[in-house]
Amino acid sequence: MASQSCIISDDWPGYSLDLFTYPQHYYEDLDYVLIPHGIIVDRTECLAKGIMQDIGDNNIVVLCVLKGGYKFCADLVEHIKTLIRNSERSISVKVDFVRLKSYHNDQSTQDMQIIGGDDLSKLTGKDIIGTGRTMKALLNNIDKYKPKMIKVASLLVKRTSQPDGYRPDYYGFEIPNLFVVGYALDYNEHFRDLNHICVINDNGKGKYEV
Ligand code: IMP
Ligand code: MG
Repeated sequence: MASQSCIISDDWPGYSLDLFTYPQHYYEDLDYVLIPHGIIVDRTECLAKGIMQDIGDNNIVVLCVLKGGYKFCADLVEHIKTLIRNSERSISVKVDFVRLKSYHNDQSTQDMQIIGGDDLSKLTGKDIIGTGRTMKALLNNIDKYKPKMIKVASLLVKRTSQPDGYRPDYYGFEIPNLFVVGYALDYNEHFRDLNHICVINDNGKGKYEV
C-alpha cells in the first residue's frame, strides 16, 4: 500500500523566512520556506510507519541516493530502526549508497552518472523526483540484480509537465514545479547545509551559477 501524500498546491505562499532560523550566508538568496524542517521529519516518520507495515518479515537493504537523499535517508532509517526496536519483529537494516548526478544549474540533463553501490536494494531513499528520469535510469540498473522486492521512497515529488512522470511507492510531499533547496538538496552544491526546504530566489541562482 502506497502511503498518501501531502499535496502542496501551486498557490501555497510558504512561510516567511523571518519565522525561522537559517544560515546567515543564505540571507539574500532565498524566497521563502516551502517546508519547515520539523514537518519534514514528522512526515518522514509517517512514511517509515507505512514502509514497516508493508515490509512483512523481510530484511531491509536501503540504497541511499547521494548526495541529495542523505538527510531524508538518515531520518527515514532512524524512524525505521525505532519502529523495529519497539516491535516484536526481527528485521535487519543494511545501508548502501549510490551517487547520481544529472543536473546542471537548475536544469535536468540527459547524461546521468551512477557512481558506487555494490549491494542490491529493496528500498531506495531519494530526495526528490523531478522529471523522474534519474529514478527510471537507476531502477533499470537495479533490476539487473533481480531483487526480491524493491520499493522507492522519495521525500518530494514535483508536479512537472513531463509526460513520463514517475511515482515512487512512498513519498512525503507533492510540490509545485519549483526548484527547491535545503535538507541536503543543492543548487550547484550550495544549500545542503540549510535545514528547511526553501525556494531559491534570483539572487541566489545568480550567485551560485556555474
Ligand atoms: P529528475 O531526473 O528530473 O527526476 O531529477 C532528479 C534529481 O535531480 C534529484 O535526485 C535531485 O538531485 C535533482 N533535482 C531535481 N529537482 C530538484 C530541485 O528542485 N532542487 C534540487 N535538486 C533537484
Ligand atoms: Mg543536485
